[in-house]
Amino acid sequence: MTIDIFPAKEGQGRIHGMREYQQTYEAAQRDPNAFWDRVAQRLTWFHPYHTVREGDFTDGSVNWFSGGRLNVSFNCLDRHLKTRAEKTAIIWEADNPADTQHISYKQLHREVCRMANVLLAHGVRKGDRVCIYLPMVPELAYTMLACCRIGAIHSVVFAGFSADSLRDRILDCGARVIVTANEGLRGGRVLPLKQICDRACEGLAKLDSVLVVRRTEADTPMVEGRDHWLHEAMKAQRAYCPAEWMHAEDPLFILYTSGSTGKPKGVLHTSGGYLTYASYTHETVFGYRENDIYFCAADIGWITGHSYIIYGPLANGATTIMFESTPMFPNPDRYWDIVERHGVNIFYTAPTAIRALAAKGDQWLEGRDLSSLRVLGTVGEPINPEAWQWYYDKVGGGRCSIVDTWWQTETGGMMITPIVGANPVKPGSATLPFFGVEPILVNEHGERLDGNDVTGHLCIAKPWPSMARTIWGDHERYLHTYFSTYPGYYFTGDGCRRDEHGNYWITGRVDDVLNVSGHRLGTAEIEASINSAELVAESAVVGFPHAIKGTGIFAYVVLQADAESSDHDVVSFSVREQVTRDISKIARPDEVLIVSGLPKTRSGKIMRRILRKIAEHEYEKLGNLTTLADPNVVEHIVEAHHENC
Ligand code: WTA
Repeated sequence: MTIDIFPAKEGQGRIHGMREYQQTYEAAQRDPNAFWDRVAQRLTWFHPYHTVREGDFTDGSVNWFSGGRLNVSFNCLDRHLKTRAEKTAIIWEADNPADTQHISYKQLHREVCRMANVLLAHGVRKGDRVCIYLPMVPELAYTMLACCRIGAIHSVVFAGFSADSLRDRILDCGARVIVTANEGLRGGRVLPLKQICDRACEGLAKLDSVLVVRRTEADTPMVEGRDHWLHEAMKAQRAYCPAEWMHAEDPLFILYTSGSTGKPKGVLHTSGGYLTYASYTHETVFGYRENDIYFCAADIGWITGHSYIIYGPLANGATTIMFESTPMFPNPDRYWDIVERHGVNIFYTAPTAIRALAAKGDQWLEGRDLSSLRVLGTVGEPINPEAWQWYYDKVGGGRCSIVDTWWQTETGGMMITPIVGANPVKPGSATLPFFGVEPILVNEHGERLDGNDVTGHLCIAKPWPSMARTIWGDHERYLHTYFSTYPGYYFTGDGCRRDEHGNYWITGRVDDVLNVSGHRLGTAEIEASINSAELVAESAVVGFPHAIKGTGIFAYVVLQADAESSDHDVVSFSVREQVTRDISKIARPDEVLIVSGLPKTRSGKIMRRILRKIAEHEYEKLGNLTTLADPNVVEHIVEAHHENC
């Protein structure tokens, strides 16, 4: 297959051509401390740090900018007030396209201060955790920034998660205050958030307050003494609240993400290094300019929204769009409508959205003025070259730079990515590492693969400022998950190829994590939910290629002995419902196949490799079956799959 190379559009970025990229990259390699010391000057420090970096991967105790004091909300707000008070900080694009709101830096500062005072009035203090279960409304931004203003740690839970998922997260981080909305509005549909939240909070002894945003006029039962309308509470507070002097290493937020085993883990990010990296990458990778209108279409419930809707852009004094709805509402031209109405210059979304929109046909782009666009970004999963080309031609009109940014919840910011104006790009490749990032590939024996044209597991060899510092309440799990597989390196969980020119191609997860529509899910969580469904004895979940979602969810389900004659359609339906209830609609299996048994080794380990091949219809590529306890199982599964198709 020949691969087209698209040269960099040099005038569009802040880094001019590959020479400057290479010089900067090498400078960061030669003397990382001097490099990051320079970069960190972009923030306002109340008190200077004494050491750029301490610790390394061998003991998992990295810290950045020790001794330094700063406040993240001060960096995102107060310091802009001299020159950007009237500039729009957030354009809120509501579910209904007629309900746009422009929030200036001055207004945002006032609302954040009010919100900070509300939290203080409800007993929240430095180091306390606040759980946020909100749709994409301005109060979500207010609450996040209010938390960092007073030194509280926020834990945002995506508003599509179930009551059980929310409850687990509240309990794990020990939040005493929750901020939610009476209802959410998305794609014209109503989400009963307060109801879900009430279920999640049943009997939680440590919970003090539930603060409720009134998003709709619906009647909302309030629990006396516990629940409070947020707009009333904010009205009672003054619009100034001093910003705490936080240590660079003080926790900023917890964000739960799925791993290959057990329950989601609370990834912890801290203040100085995270903000330095988020703001620097936002400016450099996208080639951000002062008067750009910037639109990241992610949800703030995920890391992309944290780093590239809120913290990076606001630290840079940007105008950032917060979008409450879906790309399909009211029609599949909503993004283009937003681009046209607001004059968007930089647009950042996930490949799954691009594929879904491409599938709706080009007519939705016709007649739209997209000429303001300069930069297009993608994130969350590998982008297939067809989707890339569509994005480039139809959305970007061949004029725009495309950046395919690889990174993770744990990395806090973009790690391997083209930089606008610098890198020639190959569709489907995240190209080269960002400054200060040293990716390496290792084989299954943990040996480093040098040179080009190699494939292995992707690790990072050196600490970077926005790396996760721990897993909340379980540092051992942190060390085990990221630093024990390949000692001395951070293990990403992704497979990767470095091609003959040194460009990186992420091939997807090599552990039991799935990227479904750009959402990260653990097969273990989904299996635990399926196994709790009625009549189910056990199950195994694998991913399979899906035209829109990238990866679909395939569940193999074994019924209890006395249930084998049950109607398979009924069981499949109840399995799907169970997962939706326990986790979220995003985790609902696309395929459920009832089988008589699972392929296991003699020691009882499920051989997912075989199940993946069957889900992909690659029956002839099942490989060696001799290590199975019962090789006949495979034949039965293949038969069942055939019958089902
Ligand atoms: C995948 C999202 C290929 C990858 C910011 C990673 C990607 C996981 C890309 C992290 C990309 C993210 N190309 N794969 N450009 N970006 N991934 O934690 O498997 O939700 O490990 O963070 O998404 O997902 P997470």
